[in-house]
Amino acid sequence: METATSSGIGNAIDRVEGRLKVTGMAKYASEFFVENLAYAQAINSTVAKGKIVSIDTSEAEKQKGVILVLTHLNAEKLKAYDEERPVLSVSSIQPVLQSPEIHYYGEYVGLVVADTFEQAQYAARLVKIEYEKDAPTINFEEARGEAYKPNEQSDHLRGDIDAGMAEAEVKLEATYNTPIEHQHPMELHAIIATWDNGKVKAYASQQMIDNAAITIAETFQIPKRDVRVIAPYVGGGFGSKLHAKQHVILAVMAAKMTGRPVQLTVTRQQMFTNTNLRQHNEQKISIGATRDGKLTALAHDTLSHTSTYEEYQEPCGSVSKMLYNVPNNRVTHRLIPMNIQTPFAMRAPGEATGSFALESAMDELAWKLKMDPIAFRILNDTQTDLSNDKAFSSRLLKECLRIGADKFGWNQRKMTPGTNRQGNWLIGYGVSAASRAAPYQKTSSKVLLELKNKTLYATVQMDATDIGTGSYTIIAQTASEYLGIPVERITVEIGDSLFPVTPGSGGSWGAASYANGARMACLNAIDGLKRKLNSHDKAGSIEALMIDNQVTRYEAEGTAEPSEAFKKHSVYSFGANFSEVWVDKDTGMYRIKRMVNVGACGKILNPKTAFGQIIGGLTMGAGMVIAEQSRVEPNYGNFITRSFADYHVPVNLDMANIEVVFLPEEDKIANEMGVKGIGELGITSVAASITNAIFNATGKRMRDLPVTPEKLLTAAVEEIS
Ligand code: MOS
Repeated sequence: METATSSGIGNAIDRVEGRLKVTGMAKYASEFFVENLAYAQAINSTVAKGKIVSIDTSEAEKQKGVILVLTHLNAEKLKAYDEERPVLSVSSIQPVLQSPEIHYYGEYVGLVVADTFEQAQYAARLVKIEYEKDAPTINFEEARGEAYKPNEQSDHLRGDIDAGMAEAEVKLEATYNTPIEHQHPMELHAIIATWDNGKVKAYASQQMIDNAAITIAETFQIPKRDVRVIAPYVGGGFGSKLHAKQHVILAVMAAKMTGRPVQLTVTRQQMFTNTNLRQHNEQKISIGATRDGKLTALAHDTLSHTSTYEEYQEPCGSVSKMLYNVPNNRVTHRLIPMNIQTPFAMRAPGEATGSFALESAMDELAWKLKMDPIAFRILNDTQTDLSNDKAFSSRLLKECLRIGADKFGWNQRKMTPGTNRQGNWLIGYGVSAASRAAPYQKTSSKVLLELKNKTLYATVQMDATDIGTGSYTIIAQTASEYLGIPVERITVEIGDSLFPVTPGSGGSWGAASYANGARMACLNAIDGLKRKLNSHDKAGSIEALMIDNQVTRYEAEGTAEPSEAFKKHSVYSFGANFSEVWVDKDTGMYRIKRMVNVGACGKILNPKTAFGQIIGGLTMGAGMVIAEQSRVEPNYGNFITRSFADYHVPVNLDMANIEVVFLPEEDKIANEMGVKGIGELGITSVAASITNAIFNATGKRMRDLPVTPEKLLTAAVEEIS
């Protein structure tokens, strides 16, 4: 690839912050040195529903080092929600300790602040709380009748679904279940908060700096300019750190009340109840096609749960609205309020789970039609998003499927399940299609050019975050590209609300947004400097211009935002997943032997970090099938999966040989740099490619995740009609 420098965009360079991370020099939220720091330990409720009737803090307060025991009785008054069960957004207020009511097991009911962490932890155990207990709603089956239509509507109807199903010659109705899952980034949620004369400073592990500042400001009813949020390094998020959760508010409140900086870390156990989760989804698909394989109808109805105090709805049907050329389409979502914490976005919310249902159903229908599942998808491809009648800005889904088939050796696949064997192993091949919105957003950035010893250096600033994705690196590469200097001479400063505003890291918009924002700042710097110096030299470097004119310092800002063309199109990344699975016919144990992922996700800024994103996504997608499941205790409503000993994620041994291919694509409608999103595409539809391979191996259709060997062994082989 031709680039301005050998480290400019498109080059597979190492992470620019890699050395800091492996040497322990990169500081995460709880590691900052703050003078006079106090430590906090939160206390969790031990009932799922009810009311606190008494709290005895006397024993805790007597302990050495204890500074404050915070409960709803002495907590600061915060802004309250002014409606029942409001829609939870990335910047919603987070009232905490405002009443004796309990909404879920593990809800924060108190906080102990002490001179040391050990003192806080010990004293927290001495707080005695009595509850008046109510019967909680924790059983999905029993609460089915309480489902309601969410306030935030994402239902979609086009054509006539009944007519479409009547027209179908081959049809399928099936229900797919995905369990509660938890994100669990390696870095625990953490904060060090200071309150100084009404001004808040918070080192906090968050994906979105600006939204965290809004949540803090609004919850405490103070101006946003008085809140500074700092997060230079974030050890993973997967959606759980999109929103500043209640612990952030607890720490700020404790800092305000004690007059000392307060550190609060959410423990691994608490991350099952106090940060985020992906809720259980029951997805019903009705799908039909003509005998020659043209889709006539597709309905995708999802039943999930939200909490009793906030609403979150994962848009599982989002893929079914836009992926295929189907004239009659219905997508609905319904929610059951339950005594479980509010769910929120987890990597590819909607797509990761919705594609499991849709792409399983497509495979099932292809089998009923006796069509190759790739040919079936290609036959039903569309270049227009039928949910809004907008053309896709770019869509290489057919190419992803065809090229993936070649790389994978799809032609070796046996159509009939159970016919590819090696000893005890039944071998299956599975495929699935992936789509994920690429919602690039308004991003500002600042660049400072400095000439030192006739050498140009640059510093780029924005309030972006790097949640392990490579933001530092691609921002440095962008500046390198447009300023014509190597990345070694570029300093990237991110993760601080003093810097220009970006949308933060979420929704797969980080890379496109940050890169385009950095580009605008660089271009403005070059333009501004040339104008100032009245230079019309088009070819010369900015470094030479500064040397010639003895300019040693120049600063510029820039903002990139979606164009009119972007708004007139549907902008998505596309991909295809291929899996080869070997199933032991006697034990139900299975191995994912190989995976091939082909993505068409715009210009790849750095193939190395992009590859990391995709293998991370594939691993998480495989985790959905082989292990991930959070279980609620049926009587008490607590999570009985509460450590990595009970909540399993894939390890290296579980994972296949992975091949990742990026199709050359540059989508100039998506944005000036042609970049689309990638962080969530990698997890999308992976689960279906694996369960489709399991079907191809065994003839058993696995519609409930995770697929344990026990479930697989006891499942019936489908009637082959
Ligand atoms: Mo993502 S679920 O927007 O971090």
